[in-house]
Amino acid sequence: MDLPKAVFIAILSLLPLGYVLAHKNHSHQRAMPVEAPALKKINSAYIRDVKPIFQKKCFDCHSGETRYPWYAKLPIAKTMIEGDIQEAKSHLDFSNDFPFKGHGSPQEDLEEILRSVKSDEMPPLRYRILHWGSKVTPEEKATIQAWVAESQKPLK
Ligand code: HEC
Repeated sequence: MDLPKAVFIAILSLLPLGYVLAHKNHSHQRAMPVEAPALKKINSAYIRDVKPIFQKKCFDCHSGETRYPWYAKLPIAKTMIEGDIQEAKSHLDFSNDFPFKGHGSPQEDLEEILRSVKSDEMPPLRYRILHWGSKVTPEEKATIQAWVAESQKPLK
């Protein structure tokens, strides 16, 4: 086995750890329905400003548009990547724009997105190691934060 492959396999063998650590307690509650026009407006701003960022940095797990890497063909990696996608989409699915599918209300989703992006919890470290440049930049964080702040007004 050549060295780069060995390094990849070593990283991949650490993935389950990150996976376990990632599963902290989440509240799984449904919340109030919100006015449709307000959601539409939030969605247009999302598509214009935030979606391009999410497409690059989140869609591999949180949508039906995964760009699979070559090592996704390796048996262990395949299982883990598929597990990640399934888990990510069950929490939050960006496939059909805002409001996102998942277990949270629009309000909760916005809060969680901002929190996870600001704290560099998303995209997960195990993903960032393999996908250089997938870390959310300060400019992108500012864009996401502005969108969340604007969107929260009509939802409150
Ligand atoms: C490697 C796959 C992967 C990528 C890429 C990824 N996520 Fe996640 N995400 C997950 C998994 C798995 C979970 C569920 C476990 C957890 O909460 O850590 C999750 C959970 C979340 C949650 C918590 C949802 C909730 O309310 O429970 C948010 C918010 C989130 N992701 C946002 C993002 C954003 C925004 C991006 C891009 C900047 C992103 N994720 C990129 C895998 C990923």
